[in-house]
Amino acid sequence: MATNPDRDLRVLVLGASLSSTSLNNRLATVAAKMVTGKGAKADLATIDEFDMPFYDRDIEVETGPPIGAHRFCERLKACDALIVASPEYNASMPAAIKNLLDWVSRFRPQPFNGKQALLMSASPSMVGGNRGLWALRIPFEHLGTRVYPDMFSLAQAHQAWAGDDQLEDKALQDRLDRTLGCFLDLVEATKHYPAIKKVWVEFLGEHPNAATDRIEESEEAA
Ligand SMILES: Cc1cc2nc3c(=O)[nH]c(=O)nc-3n(C[C@H](O)[C@H](O)[C@H](O)COP(=O)(O)O)c2cc1C
Repeated sequence: MATNPDRDLRVLVLGASLSSTSLNNRLATVAAKMVTGKGAKADLATIDEFDMPFYDRDIEVETGPPIGAHRFCERLKACDALIVASPEYNASMPAAIKNLLDWVSRFRPQPFNGKQALLMSASPSMVGGNRGLWALRIPFEHLGTRVYPDMFSLAQAHQAWAGDDQLEDKALQDRLDRTLGCFLDLVEATKHYPAIKKVWVEFLGEHPNAATDRIEESEEAA
């Protein structure tokens, strides 16, 4: 895939595990290097950089969102897109990433709205944590994030690596490369040709009503 060294693209790459020996954070590190190799800028982060208590309405009213939520919000706002490598816990997403989504969704403008996202997972299991990504897709899409249709799940991730950055399975390495490359092409296209979807409607099932609607316009629509 052709690489444009001058791409004006910045991607936040989040390893969503709290573990110091995380398979997902390793995948995130490799993805960040690949993003850089494709001419975009990568901002690599791990979820432990955004420490926050469980979402609590009382805390929000008394002190506002915690500093970790502010930090994540700023890092996200500085990027065109987001890549998340998240573990699967009990066939769903871990509490830490859901908690981060809940806190950060309280900012206005709501920072996930209109962002492009690519979801990845790694697990020692045979399906690579892919069920967790289907669960993670739901809150992201609810928040107006445009989640890339393809996802990348690394099965048997504890024994998948041939070296620091290369997967043992060459065909799988090529798939990862292609998925990332196509995702970045879409992010680039969207940046220059903004999508038709302009508003985020928080409560889609409600009858339109000017007094109660919670509708937010994308920045590019303003
Ligand atoms: C509470 C818990 C639930 C888990 N559930 C699943 C699961 O549903 N599917 C799976 O593939 N692995 C599951 N695992 C195993 C994780 O995939 C494995 O621990 C993985 O290494 C976690 O990702 P990390 O290394 O990035 O922290 C679970 C682990 C824990 C601690």
